[in-house]
Amino acid sequence: MDDVTLARALHVLAIVHWIGGVAMVTAVILPALRRRGAPAERLGLFEGIEGKFSGQAKLSTLLAGATGFYMTWRMDAWDRFLEPGMWWMHAMVAVWVIFSAILFVAEPLFLHRWFHERAGRDPEGTFALVQRLHWMLLTASLITVAGAVLGAHGMLY
Ligand code: HEM
Repeated sequence: MDDVTLARALHVLAIVHWIGGVAMVTAVILPALRRRGAPAERLGLFEGIEGKFSGQAKLSTLLAGATGFYMTWRMDAWDRFLEPGMWWMHAMVAVWVIFSAILFVAEPLFLHRWFHERAGRDPEGTFALVQRLHWMLLTASLITVAGAVLGAHGMLY
């Protein structure tokens, strides 16, 4: 097995953990919590679950980014970023930048505080908004995964 193949396997494992976790939070945990009783209990459970996952997701986004850039460098594939037909390369970097900004910048600086305060005032509206935002991120991520597999195996050009 060559180093690019090994990097690809690690890349896909990182994506499975990270985007799979986003799917679990979006399609299972958030809808289940929204049907639960007291808002304070809901808020505590969600922050506990999301907090635990966000620690793990930081590691998988780092691994996905490192292996992604390593493959790009080893395959000398930088010129793909000049090709509109290689939109899936741009999509991968865009999804990675958005999640990294959320996990490493927005959450520690203000997002967590904003969520806690807003959910205290308006639990229903805040959970509905958070769920909508999760669906948007999950949809963009899944389109990217499909585009990356099709593109990497020559189906898009
Ligand atoms: C810094 C960010 C990223 C970079 C630089 C990057 C780069 C790459 C490269 C160079 C490949 C190999 C393409 C080829 O063999 O022609 C690849 C494959 C792939 N990437 Fe990324 N990637 C990044 C983030 C992501 C993200 C965020 C996702 C998912 C949402 C993703 C999903 C995939 C998938 C599914 C494959 C295809 C594996 C295969 O079927 O061979 N990547 N990536």
